[in-house]
Amino acid sequence: MRIRDPGIVAKLAEIRVELRQGTALAGLTSLGIGGTTDLLRIKNHKSLPDLLKLLDANHIPHEFLGGGSNLLVGDGELPWVVLQLVRPEPDVVLDGNFAHVDAAADLGRMITFCAKNNLGGMEGLIGVPGTVGGALRMNAGAYGMQIGSYVREVQLYRAAGRKIEVLRGDQISFEYRHTSFAPDDMMLTVILELPSKPFKVILEGIRICNEKRRSSQPLGQKSAGCIFKNPPGASVGRMIDELGLKGLSVGDARVSDRHANFFVNAGHASARDMLTLISDVRERVQKTYGVSLENEVVVWNA
Ligand code: EPU
Repeated sequence: MRIRDPGIVAKLAEIRVELRQGTALAGLTSLGIGGTTDLLRIKNHKSLPDLLKLLDANHIPHEFLGGGSNLLVGDGELPWVVLQLVRPEPDVVLDGNFAHVDAAADLGRMITFCAKNNLGGMEGLIGVPGTVGGALRMNAGAYGMQIGSYVREVQLYRAAGRKIEVLRGDQISFEYRHTSFAPDDMMLTVILELPSKPFKVILEGIRICNEKRRSSQPLGQKSAGCIFKNPPGASVGRMIDELGLKGLSVGDARVSDRHANFFVNAGHASARDMLTLISDVRERVQKTYGVSLENEVVVWNA
């Protein structure tokens, strides 16, 4: 979708929103898949209500993009514009055990920065690509921990009320890869309360998690992490593996040989290839195990 109206373009500049016309989302997602649209980069959180008002008034649909690491975007010209926060400097400010973090901060860099300041707890998420805002929205977790446990406060733009609001951690429900945020809420900042730990101890935890991840996941390849959520008490990776589906391909979309719940873009996969592979595997798992798999990856398809 292209914004061509000079009035809208001028208004965007006025509220400090950068317009990048015709951006290929394939370049902004870890899967390397996705069509083209206008990208609106937000330099100041305070401009969000004005921006959303402007888009609404002109009937311009939009999606919010975080780090693009858990996302499958459709092919071709996309029917909505994409909004993304510009990362401020600094993006993490510490105050005792509290880390004040911008949603656009890189998750891994935030964990390392806190570790260097003897604040731990988030070691399990090292190696998970993406932004803090994205991790928060999905309640990212690994190796027995989840980010939601550390959240004390979130500042977000709520589309329902069309304004910026602050929620306490206990007003948000964090479940397995799910939160009570509305789909059109946009994370802005978060306060995490992290336990004090010596840097050396955190570093050892990080080393162990890195090693486990390296040995079981296809880290060097283009992927969106796990495609499906695990049903209670089961591992989808193991089920797909048991069905002998590692290496199954549609075009360049391929079930990873290393971890069967990771589907990789082995070249120039399209969204259509990846979606066909997802529904094929879902059907086979349903047939054999009678389990209906839910996507873990977020799909933006027209
Ligand atoms: N397994 C296989 N074959 C495979 C993959 C896994 O037999 O191809 C077996 C493993 O040997 C192990 C069991 O299945 O016995 C579980 O595998 P793993 O430890 O890799 O965990 P998972 O349940 O597949 C979950 C998360 C990952 C997270 C890891 C580590 C989900 C959907 N996945 O994977 O998160 O990194 O645990 O905590 O919850 C993600 O969210 O994108 C993600 C990758």
